[in-house]
Amino acid sequence: MGKYSKRIIIIHWLTLALLVVAWFLGDSLDDARHEGGATIAGYMVHSLVGGVVLLLTLLRLVYRRTDGIPPALGDTLLDKVAKGVHHLLYLLLILLPLSGIMQVLTSDVGKALLAGDASLLPKKFEGVPAHGVHEILVNVLIAVAVVHVLGALKHQFITKDNIMARVSLRDRK
Ligand code: HEM
Ligand code: HEM
Repeated sequence: MGKYSKRIIIIHWLTLALLVVAWFLGDSLDDARHEGGATIAGYMVHSLVGGVVLLLTLLRLVYRRTDGIPPALGDTLLDKVAKGVHHLLYLLLILLPLSGIMQVLTSDVGKALLAGDASLLPKKFEGVPAHGVHEILVNVLIAVAVVHVLGALKHQFITKDNIMARVSLRDRK
């Protein structure tokens, strides 16, 4: 069975780690804002981690073209669904950070970051559609990622086709 190139595999697992961090930081930001304790550094670090996810995803799509990907495991309906889920994940990995960037640009967060002044940070995101969109996309990404992981578990433990070898950093002997 073929596997993805090493750099694609590294980005796959790095993206998972960064998503967990960005999710935690985003939720903490939301809590801090409601308690009146949001900081410029908090917004900058969350935006940076989310921005890196976007850059890595774009890089991954380039590597997918240059390095290629292993052939599909099969051609059943479920295999096609898995492929659709992968495409949906790529779309979400681009749209989620973009909605975050839009949120910064279309709210007072941008102004506060430019001035380096936490007192300019918004208390509410009224009239900023990107805020609601960002929150929805986070939840959609989590739901689709759960389906993806369930699919991987089904392959690994029920079909037993060792699918994890395709995204494993260890070289098979
Ligand atoms: C514990 C968590 C995860 C496991 C066990 C896992 C497992 C896998 C496996 C086995 C594959 C290869 C599928 C195949 O070749 O048909 C794969 C591919 C993929 N994974 Fe994950 N994954 C996890 C988390 C994630 C997350 C959080 C994302 C993104 C949000 C993600 C996005 C993708 C994408 C887009 C592909 C398709 C790669 C391509 O064809 O270009 N994965 N994953
Ligand atoms: C791709 C990874 C990202 C993830 C997983 C993520 C996750 C989150 C989460 C969970 C929240 C809290 C939502 C809520 O409960 O209201 C949030 C809020 C936010 N995110 Fe992101 N985000 C990402 C990328 C970005 C990027 C790239 C930016 C900006 C450049 C950004 C800017 C924001 C802002 C401004 C908030 C509002 C915080 C607040 O409520 O005060 N995010 N994000």
